[in-house]
Amino acid sequence: MVLPAEKILLLAIAIGALMGSSQGANILGLFTSISPSHLIIQMSAVKVLAENGHNVTVVTVLKPVVNHKNITVIQVPLSREEAQIMSDKIGVMSKNDNSNMALSLLRMSEQMDFMIRKTAETLMNDRVRDLYLNRGNKFDLVLSGYFMNDYQLGFAKKVNAPVIVVATMPPNQLLNPLIGNPLEVAYVPSISDSVEKGKGMSFRQRLAGYSSSLFFEIFNFVTQRRSKKLYKKVYGNDPNMPEYSEMLKNTSLVFFSSHAASEGPIRPNVPSAIEIGGIQIKDKPDPLPQTIAEFLGNATNGAILLSLGSNVQGKHLNPETVVKMFNVLSKLKERVIWKWEDQENTPGKSANILYSKWLPQDDILAHPNIKLFINHAGKGGITESQYHGKPMLSLPVFGDQPRNANAMVKSGFGLTLSLLTLEEQPFQEAILEILSNPQYAERVKSFSTLYRDRPMTARQSFLYWTEYVIRHHGAAHLQSPLLHMNFIAANNIDIYFLIFVILISVLVLIKFLVKFIYRRFISKPKKVKTN
Ligand SMILES: *[C@@H]1O[C@H](CO)[C@@H](O)[C@H](O)[C@H]1NC(C)=O
Ligand SMILES: *[C@@H]1O[C@H](CO)[C@@H](O)[C@H](O)[C@H]1NC(C)=O
Ligand SMILES: *[C@@H]1O[C@H](CO)[C@@H](O)[C@H](O)[C@H]1NC(C)=O
Ligand SMILES: *[C@@H]1O[C@H](CO)[C@@H](O)[C@H](O)[C@H]1NC(C)=O
Repeated sequence: MVLPAEKILLLAIAIGALMGSSQGANILGLFTSISPSHLIIQMSAVKVLAENGHNVTVVTVLKPVVNHKNITVIQVPLSREEAQIMSDKIGVMSKNDNSNMALSLLRMSEQMDFMIRKTAETLMNDRVRDLYLNRGNKFDLVLSGYFMNDYQLGFAKKVNAPVIVVATMPPNQLLNPLIGNPLEVAYVPSISDSVEKGKGMSFRQRLAGYSSSLFFEIFNFVTQRRSKKLYKKVYGNDPNMPEYSEMLKNTSLVFFSSHAASEGPIRPNVPSAIEIGGIQIKDKPDPLPQTIAEFLGNATNGAILLSLGSNVQGKHLNPETVVKMFNVLSKLKERVIWKWEDQENTPGKSANILYSKWLPQDDILAHPNIKLFINHAGKGGITESQYHGKPMLSLPVFGDQPRNANAMVKSGFGLTLSLLTLEEQPFQEAILEILSNPQYAERVKSFSTLYRDRPMTARQSFLYWTEYVIRHHGAAHLQSPLLHMNFIAANNIDIYFLIFVILISVLVLIKFLVKFIYRRFISKPKKVKTN
């Protein structure tokens, strides 16, 4: 006989089984991008899963900076030659002017080609293939990092699990098609543009936005062609693999690194577009290393953080530019923390400057004595600075950096100067302007308040929606019909054509009728006359 307590327990187990459990799931993260800033966001996200009792396995090329005891990392590193090639390419790119997005994308295409090929090779590595060849492995979910690598989504089919894309950018034309998120170029400004409050988009803006969307359409086409080839290459001729185009219609959700309510653009998103902007930022800062804590704590005149990111290292900079920067910074009354790799070869000694090879940037920005962040306009750094309400001076180098810098200046959070043409006087003037004019700090602080005001933090959203997909074994019910419609149907062009045909037919009919009536009843006497 079964006792009541046991009955309740059995019932609870039955209900649990019915609802589907997401506790202690096996989750696979494919984070093969060679960009350190992408990996930081992706690892910060899966760290949340590990902290909540999930068993996370990740595949990476780079060594993750963010990590957790319960995350198993399968790293397929770059060879020494490949790492050298990457470093050289970034060095060359940092010497070009990259304010034009289309031009810099074309210029980066060779480097991107290398990165995307490397991603494919990573998926073909024996240790990675073992994830699906070894029958002992079972995954409940695949998280796929995005870097123009749609073929990677096929890996989810190999391990028979639903897939979520983790993107390190806001909704855009490359990712929207995966979940049928609308593009709406008429009123959603492109990434490099923005719309004034209380205004619509002008003709010039719409024309620019439309042209840029055409460019990206071509870019998308080229990317998809390469991706389709790599899809064949990576998964071979496995008859169980679906057609590439079918495989693309199977993404459960996309996580975007944005927060529209504070950052814009205000745009429609389908329910499977989930924003987790700022997930890499800790809710509470960790204690700083002692030297930095004392240096900042004793900075009675305030302090400046200078970091040009993880891609551009001191040795890539023009030595004259470094001297100019040192001359300005060493004369300030504020203290300066300068991220500098080569501790033997620093730009110069000065009592107010502390050089450090590695910096807990997020924790330093949280310090109340930091008055200014001089950065390279990487999305990650700008996001952290905005989160902590710190004004910025951005010295962009390449890729999306000039755009990020311009958007930051437009929001009133600081100023920007080109690193390639940096001179002492403008550098000094920009620093003094931001430190003395309170409007920059005020604007960025009020943004910070909006950015943090959410129903769920980025971490909570990420955890909730990831477990949601695991609980429901995918999210096919969230899928937009747009994924199954072609261009003509999606834009109702056939219906406009039908209306046009009906209108023309009616006009022709009316013309015919008028002619008929005229001939029959009005022009009859004429006929009589001629006769
Ligand atoms: C790691 O996972 C084990 C087993 O799931 C759990 O007992 C432990 O608390 C986890 N460790 C951390 C640091 O979360
Ligand atoms: C965690 O995942 C790895 C990789 O699939 C697997 O080998 C291991 O058995 C899993 N651990 C648990 C406790 O499920
Ligand atoms: C789509 O994903 C599900 C798992 O969520 C899988 O069972 C199915 O085979 C996939 N279909 C295609 C066409 O990839
Ligand atoms: C200032 O520096 C001294 C040592 O140089 C240290 O003992 C003290 O704690 C520092 N003050 C703060 C507020 O960090």
